[in-house]
Amino acid sequence: MNILILGSGGREHAIAWKLSQSKKVSKLFIGPGNAGTTSFGVNLKLDPEKFEEVKSAVLHNKIDIVIVGPEAPLVKGIHDFFLDDKELNNVPVIGPVKAAALLEGSKDFAKEFMTRNNIPTAAYRTFDNATRKDAIHFLKKQKPPFVLKADGLAAGKGVVILNDFEEASRELSAMLDGKFGEAGKKVVIEQFLKGIELSVFVITDGHSYKLLPSAKDYKRIGVGDSGLNTGGMGAVSPVPFADKKFMEKVEERIIKPTIKGLAEEGIIYKGFIFFGLINVDNDPYVIEYNVRLGDPETEVIIPRIKSDFFELIEGVAKCDLHKREINIDERFVTTIMMVSGGYPGTFEKGKIISGLDMTSESVVFHAGTKREGDKILSNGGRVLAVSAWGSSLEEALKKSYSNAGLLSFEGSYYRTDIGFDL
Ligand code: AMP
Ligand code: GLY
Repeated sequence: MNILILGSGGREHAIAWKLSQSKKVSKLFIGPGNAGTTSFGVNLKLDPEKFEEVKSAVLHNKIDIVIVGPEAPLVKGIHDFFLDDKELNNVPVIGPVKAAALLEGSKDFAKEFMTRNNIPTAAYRTFDNATRKDAIHFLKKQKPPFVLKADGLAAGKGVVILNDFEEASRELSAMLDGKFGEAGKKVVIEQFLKGIELSVFVITDGHSYKLLPSAKDYKRIGVGDSGLNTGGMGAVSPVPFADKKFMEKVEERIIKPTIKGLAEEGIIYKGFIFFGLINVDNDPYVIEYNVRLGDPETEVIIPRIKSDFFELIEGVAKCDLHKREINIDERFVTTIMMVSGGYPGTFEKGKIISGLDMTSESVVFHAGTKREGDKILSNGGRVLAVSAWGSSLEEALKKSYSNAGLLSFEGSYYRTDIGFDL
């Protein structure tokens, strides 16, 4: 089987690393990939959001299955593009059709879907320019902190939580005035939920699903969860408080109704669902849906899958996931994200990375790198994810940190407290 993985981050490197271990995978291609993915396959120069470029790559390299890493091509309708194209419509795409990708692409759609299907989530209302006055009125009636969400994709910046009413109403107006462009034309105002967050993942063929390991990621740039939001500064799996009883609630109240709800609405969802959950006094609530795997969560989930990951991918492609096996490693896996100095603000790229040949008992996934001659250079905000296994959380963290200490590039930074709160 020839597989094409779309994307260029640590998530895609981790998927390529795992699939390269499958006997059933003959050739791996990653578009566009990074310096790390070249160890497991061929990088293709393409933009995953330019579907004609993806099409030529698929036809030219005789690709049998396409796995979509990031959300943007899904929200833009890459799966539908394949279904509608005579030359591509028998090439399975792992990732949902546009109508289902709205679970991530529109907060309002996601909230309506959850309400229709009785899935626990924060109480909310949606407003637009025409209902601006009602929005302020509604906001006034809420208790702080105030949670405002731009409806559409806003590069991870569309959620604003503020304590002060005046500040929140200014932010609300700015959103409706176009602060986030099209994405903010509608704004969701919702109840603030207090609890600990976790990420739960499934792979589904639209009928049955397999639960993947759960994970916790650390979104803020600074130690003690301080400072600006990032794409994710580290992750751990499993999540100690997500015990059997809690996960049963997650499956019964959230996962099953989501899959059933999609099917009842005529959507055969093929791909990954990422449930961004919050544990409120031992009851799970959905904060958000994502229609893909998380990053850096994938860098701790994938190393915990002992069985052949391709079996699951093929199960989705052939719609026989219920026949497939998944075996999970009991051990902990942690990952530490090394980022460029200045990230998530402005940062420089092109810094030479040293120490990649010195690490041991770990796997270093490249998040933003490129190769130049025999050198590997930083090429993004998030640069390397250092993942390691351990029979305890402490042991995994010790290995991730000791290996991160061997790696360096000018200005590199990582958080020193990943997993310390658990
Ligand atoms: P989202 O982009 O929806 O994941 O939101 C970004 C972050 O905002 C989440 O990871 C939470 O930390 C926080 N958040 C979103 N909605 C709520 C809520 N209703 N209550 C408390 N925190 C929230
Ligand atoms: N780590 C959060 C995300 O992938 O959206």
